[in-house]
Amino acid sequence: MIRYGNIIDDKDPRIREKSEEVPLPLSAEDRAMLEEMLEYLEASQAVSDDEENEDLRPGVGMAAIQLGIPKKICAVLIYETDEDQNVTGETRYGLVNPKIVSHSEKLCYLKAGEGCLSVREEHEGYVPRYQKVTVTAYDALQDCEVTIVARGYHAIVLQHELDHFSGTLFYDHINPEDPFAEIPNAAEIE
Ligand code: NI
Repeated sequence: MIRYGNIIDDKDPRIREKSEEVPLPLSAEDRAMLEEMLEYLEASQAVSDDEENEDLRPGVGMAAIQLGIPKKICAVLIYETDEDQNVTGETRYGLVNPKIVSHSEKLCYLKAGEGCLSVREEHEGYVPRYQKVTVTAYDALQDCEVTIVARGYHAIVLQHELDHFSGTLFYDHINPEDPFAEIPNAAEIE
């Protein structure tokens, strides 16, 4: 199983590499990698805050390049919870060759900023993202081509993961002069 220690960080030049399109049908090896990525995301989010586990820093998304593999493959696992933190639903993707085919003009950003399993240090500031994106991909979990329309937090996570394919990290988007400068035409996401 993947451990936090298997994930490369931003000191490793591979994190800036461009990822390649993956030939379909998906190889058994790539499918197994995607399953392991999702396993990590699931196990990492099952760790409670007061129990912290150095092997499983929590994440909602992972791109293959974070394992040092320059392929356009990423896993996403986002739980929906109610006020009492009970899980009421989930969004789970094992995406191959995802790409943004259209997006809103309107932007959004996470109020608390973004984090990344490959970024050890904190980088404070707003990361402008499109408020809505339409993504096409092959979803290995459903074994078919999918079109995903995502808004708000889900759209942010997808843009963050797809950025990894071009070697871009979230803090590249933060305004270096004024990290918390108001972003025009942007919705704040809690
Ligand atoms: Ni990341």
